[in-house]
Amino acid sequence: MIIARSAQELREALGTRIGSVGFVPTMGALHIGHKTLIEHARRENETVVVSIFVNPTQFLPGEDLSKYPRREEADFKICELSGVDLLFYPDVGTMYGRDEVRITAPDVRGYILEGSSRPGHFDGVLTVVMKLLNMVRPTRAYFGKKDAQQLALIAQMVDNLFMNVVIVPIDTVREKDGLALSSRNIYLSPSERQEALKLSASLKAATKMVMQGSVDAGVIQNAMMNILDPLNVEYVAIVNRRFEAMTHVILGDTIVLVAARVGTTRLIDNVWM
Ligand code: PAF
Repeated sequence: MIIARSAQELREALGTRIGSVGFVPTMGALHIGHKTLIEHARRENETVVVSIFVNPTQFLPGEDLSKYPRREEADFKICELSGVDLLFYPDVGTMYGRDEVRITAPDVRGYILEGSSRPGHFDGVLTVVMKLLNMVRPTRAYFGKKDAQQLALIAQMVDNLFMNVVIVPIDTVREKDGLALSSRNIYLSPSERQEALKLSASLKAATKMVMQGSVDAGVIQNAMMNILDPLNVEYVAIVNRRFEAMTHVILGDTIVLVAARVGTTRLIDNVWM
């Protein structure tokens, strides 16, 4: 596995490659969810590139960037063992200069749900993803469905700006008991981890209701809120694939989302129907 730390090193390493390039952008602290993205990229492309970059512009003032888990050695090993050809590991100075052109998220879709709790977060995500896609120039880029709004906004950016890359959505990976894998799960105490299962349980209940013919969004949201009690719920939302609110679930075009704090840890989860 080649490790490139600068734009120049990345260009040189990519220059020798032929065939399709699969790209998995990450912020490190890799877990099985990331490994699954890499495996998909490995199966579908000649070359696999992973980036590890904790992007400062997607953290809001007050969000502690320095507390984001960093596990360089373990991450490198996971990449190597997963068959990654090229690891891009830039520092902030490589990715950002002063007084830069910026990408801004759309006014509505970028500022509801996750964007409402974290206004400006998606500007930072889209800016760094744009930079990374321009640098790696992949055939396909892989993103998890767990960050459903991020995925939708990246797909929209690629579409709106006529970018030449295929965005591949990958299903959420879960623990046996249903907890969606997340780099933040390490912050949960054993009792909080137990409480965190309420997120996936509420989504499971929503799925069951829909399967039994109960498709009213308000009714489903109430049932979910009962299951989530007494967690500090930020939102329970039912939207279509374009992130417009739905009054009724339409199979094939619905995402049910939840965001809640368990202790001080903010968790999100969703189910695509
Ligand atoms: O999902 C993430 O890990 C990040 O938001 C991403 C897409 C790598 C951009 O920093």
